[in-house]
Amino acid sequence: MSKPEVIVNDLTVGYGKEIVLEDMNLEFKGHGIVQILGPNGAGKTTLLKTIIGIIKPFKGKIIVNGEEVTGNPSKAGKHVGYVPQLLTTTTAYPVTPWELVESSLLMYRKKWPRLIADKNTQTRVREVLRLVGLPEEAWNKSFWELSGGQRQRVLIARALVHDPPILVMDEPLASVDPAGRAEIAALIGALSSKKLVIVASHDPMLLLPYTKQVVLLNRRIYIVGKPSKVLTLENTRKIYGESALFVKEHIHISDAHIP
Ligand SMILES: Nc1ncnc2c1ncn2[C@@H]1O[C@H](COP(=O)(O)OP(=O)(O)OP(=O)(O)O)[C@@H](O)[C@H]1O
Ligand SMILES: [Mg+2]
Repeated sequence: MSKPEVIVNDLTVGYGKEIVLEDMNLEFKGHGIVQILGPNGAGKTTLLKTIIGIIKPFKGKIIVNGEEVTGNPSKAGKHVGYVPQLLTTTTAYPVTPWELVESSLLMYRKKWPRLIADKNTQTRVREVLRLVGLPEEAWNKSFWELSGGQRQRVLIARALVHDPPILVMDEPLASVDPAGRAEIAALIGALSSKKLVIVASHDPMLLLPYTKQVVLLNRRIYIVGKPSKVLTLENTRKIYGESALFVKEHIHISDAHIP
């Protein structure tokens, strides 16, 4: 399999007449985590939705693994799994984790019959729910009865079910408690050893050990580069103002039990 690759070329995107991001160019290549950081309203979700084809830009192209997918979620979906921002994820109908993951797999199989065709549907759904660490007793509960962390795991399972080389995740650690957050960060880190993972986030710290590139964004790109180059107090203050803190000594809440 060739290297996963996402190219954002000369992108201008917005809603109605409002431009959110203008003349943006970005390139993400190979496995590892890319973090998109920026305050509320910076345009992180807009960028991610444009990459996965569900927003059609005013101008520019999105090229994923050599294929142009601009405004075409069906084409993009072959290469990319998407984990939406949890707070914005609402469906009125009752659905279980198993059904969410299975229906996604069946949809992909219908579109691309050769994709993971070697695996039985039940086997694959079970495999992926285990991989994300969702306890078996939760598999057939209503999605809406699950905790924030469990819901997040289900959405990750759904995005992974067709084993795409690229994952796009919108704030995957939000609405998860500290212990769950560390576990989900470790899961995302493990996935990034084989996949390109593009993550929108407010707090870069938990995924930092796995992060190879950071994009600091607030309606325009401030800086792109390695975490050590981008994540300075000076850079983060430019977009977060005084809420960016340099904390020398801090309380770390660990889920490990000290005897
Ligand atoms: N569906 C929409 N229709 C109109 N305007 C929108 C829509 N979605 C987002 N916007 C606007 O676009 C801008 C960027 O929003 P976006 O959701 O991309 O920001 P974000 O960086 O993801 O913020 P957050 O951290 O709150 O998730 C905001 O001003 C927002 O009000
Ligand atoms: Mg957002």
